[in-house]
Amino acid sequence: MSETATTADAPEEGESRRDFLLIATSAVGAVGTALAIWPLIDSLNPAADVLALGSTEVDLAPVKVGQSITIKWRGSPVFIRRRTADEIEAARKDDGADLPDPEADADRVQKAEWLIMVGVCTHLGCIPLGQKRGDSKGEFGGWFCPCHGSHYDTSGRIRKGPAPTNLLIPPYVFLTDTTIKIG
Ligand code: FES
Repeated sequence: MSETATTADAPEEGESRRDFLLIATSAVGAVGTALAIWPLIDSLNPAADVLALGSTEVDLAPVKVGQSITIKWRGSPVFIRRRTADEIEAARKDDGADLPDPEADADRVQKAEWLIMVGVCTHLGCIPLGQKRGDSKGEFGGWFCPCHGSHYDTSGRIRKGPAPTNLLIPPYVFLTDTTIKIG
């Protein structure tokens, strides 16, 4: 009887042992997976220093009328130009010109004097000339990309050459009259 009982019990014990082993294995598997996923999830949470790099504050006070500065934001150059009255007037006058990527100057600036753009040619990503004194500014007095000859006007709009769109305007806000936060 006891043998029968043992024999009869054996499969149950075996099954429950297997179940236990399976559960244990699954639990280890789950923990193992969780441990494996954690570094990935953790790496997806941007660290404070990375978040700080996502936005940049710029003091515009030292920039004089007619001067440009270039700052780095998220690895890209950002052109900031304090435009002259003539440049603003030229940009506004050309709102009605035959623009490859039509955009009014007023839609590209928050304050007419300050033009803030990502300084990357929209053709193949070269950095256009026009930020430094003595640089070629192209046929429209703004920026010129010598890589394949794209000409941008004083609003950063593409006017001639292969670039398909205007220089991009990054997200930014004026924190004070002379301080902006980009990003
Ligand atoms: S990358 Fe600027 S014209 Fe080609």
